[in-house]
Amino acid sequence: MQLIDGKKISGDIKSEIAQEVKEMVAAGKTAPHLAAILVGHDGGSETYVAHKIKSCEEVGFKSTLIRFEDNISEQELLNAVEKLNNDTTVDGFIVQLPLPKHIDEQKIIEAVAPQKDVDGFHPINLGKLVAGLDTFVSATPSGIVDLLKRYNIPTVGKHCVIIGRSNIVGRPLSILMSQKRIDATVTVCHSRTENLKEIAQTADILVAAIGKPGFVTADMVKPGVTVIDVGTTRVKSDKTKSGFKLKGDVDFENVAEKTSFITPVPGGVGPMTICSLLKNTLKAAKNRK
Ligand code: GUN
Repeated sequence: MQLIDGKKISGDIKSEIAQEVKEMVAAGKTAPHLAAILVGHDGGSETYVAHKIKSCEEVGFKSTLIRFEDNISEQELLNAVEKLNNDTTVDGFIVQLPLPKHIDEQKIIEAVAPQKDVDGFHPINLGKLVAGLDTFVSATPSGIVDLLKRYNIPTVGKHCVIIGRSNIVGRPLSILMSQKRIDATVTVCHSRTENLKEIAQTADILVAAIGKPGFVTADMVKPGVTVIDVGTTRVKSDKTKSGFKLKGDVDFENVAEKTSFITPVPGGVGPMTICSLLKNTLKAAKNRK
């Protein structure tokens, strides 16, 4: 069993991005600029956004954090999105999810200009992905593909089973994994799938993205499988300073010994998602008119 070290790979990719930014700035261009809108004070979202802003600094990007209280109206948030759409100094921006219940998330996602949608959540960008066109791929699927590539894990002709069909992870990942040059055979499983255990057992690459801690157990995997754990459920812990720890969708203790490769939680897929966001922002900056 080999651990897939997302923290290390993410550090490597950040160094590569930092180098590109240096060259860009040396050539007289302004550094890429990412803006993030954060609504309310959800603990998880606060942490994620803080990481995103810190990572921008590490690679030499400019970043702007825009905060609103969770009683902001949908219209006020739409206005803030429109302002960023029209701000020529901002290359790309994100609206951190989840949003308060009184705001229609999909409406906000669709208000973001597709050319600034560095999350890759806009239907136009999802559609381009499906059509095999150049686009902003959302952070988690893109991070997973980077990990597979950098660890030289074979994908061509292999069976990739994805548990979870969200628009953010499972669905776009299924498209990426079946694209030319990755060439996996893909099965997407979800809450209504029959015989999920038997299907999972046929996976060469098993991706768990359902948000149920410890869902994938040792009897669900075949020996030699590569396991990618996307789960990051925050559970209470008296061993950490924050009082929380992250728990993956895989029963790591019992599954790991059967695998060829496995991502830990934390330190696997998580750190990669920020890299993908940075890559997309750099790409948006390069696309500047
Ligand atoms: N919430 C959880 N993951 C993400 C993400 O990748 N982007 C945004 N905007 N919100 C999230």
